[in-house]
Amino acid sequence: MNKVLVLGASGATGSLVVAELLKRNVEVVAIVRAASSMQRRAGDQLHYSEVQADITELHDQELASYLKGCDVVVSCLGHNMTFKGMFGEPRRLVTGAMAKVVRAVELVKPDRKLRIILMNTSGNSNRDIPERPPLSQRMVISILRLLLPPHVDNEQAADLLRSVVGQGHQYIEWVAVRPDSLVNESKVTPYVTHPSPTRNAIFDAGPTSRENVADFMATLAVDQELWSRWRGQMPVIYNEI
Ligand SMILES: NC(=O)c1ccc[n+]([C@@H]2O[C@H](COP(=O)([O-])OP(=O)(O)OC[C@H]3O[C@@H](n4cnc5c(N)ncnc54)[C@H](OP(=O)(O)O)[C@@H]3O)[C@@H](O)[C@H]2O)c1
Repeated sequence: MNKVLVLGASGATGSLVVAELLKRNVEVVAIVRAASSMQRRAGDQLHYSEVQADITELHDQELASYLKGCDVVVSCLGHNMTFKGMFGEPRRLVTGAMAKVVRAVELVKPDRKLRIILMNTSGNSNRDIPERPPLSQRMVISILRLLLPPHVDNEQAADLLRSVVGQGHQYIEWVAVRPDSLVNESKVTPYVTHPSPTRNAIFDAGPTSRENVADFMATLAVDQELWSRWRGQMPVIYNEI
């Protein structure tokens, strides 16, 4: 059975990822800042456990101890939509967490390569491939880089996977999932995935439901064929419309 460590498990998408993993009979370890209702909701599930800790404060060695036996790490971390969440510390929440996961995996030295699945954004480009967003999008993104620290954090977190972990890491493989405009729906619906955005992420963003993101991430965690298709890439996901 797979064992997956989930960061940001208390969030809108993270909690759906946990539910999708449990549906697939996967053992889940969730790191949450505050004891969440998830323990209660998932309490009857044998395969769910919760570590109450702030990922920004965990030492590498502590994180390594939670990572032992895990095959996959999923991060759905994101800055809270409050003034403090957007402009306060930690400015590099997601990048810092990714760097910590990489260091912890290197301490664990797993026998099999561990998969990191990062929730990213279609507003970020994959600079490993010729991906040139429309000029209007590039201009707005340049402004967002100056004004919105969370955007830079998302870019740097994916850069860390692309450039520091790269394609030939001894212990790690990764996928950065790029949803377009996040919406909530009541269930998983048909969706499509592409290697690069097919829409302007700023002026023509399409809906991507959190349920579909969760389904895609959970399937990536357990399905070898899907993993092989997207390993080392930054798939963009849209609801099928
Ligand atoms: N909005 C969009 O249209 C859109 C589109 C594409 C991608 N995205 C990206 O998708 C990601 C997740 O979105 P979402 O709506 O599911 O996020 P969310 O509901 O806001 O969840 C964010 C998660 O991060 C945790 N977190 C926030 N600040 C933290 C801190 N300082 N220390 C530790 N944990 C912290 C939260 O924990 P607590 O519950 O403890 O606060 C929560 O678990 C974000 O990175 C966002 O940039 C968004």
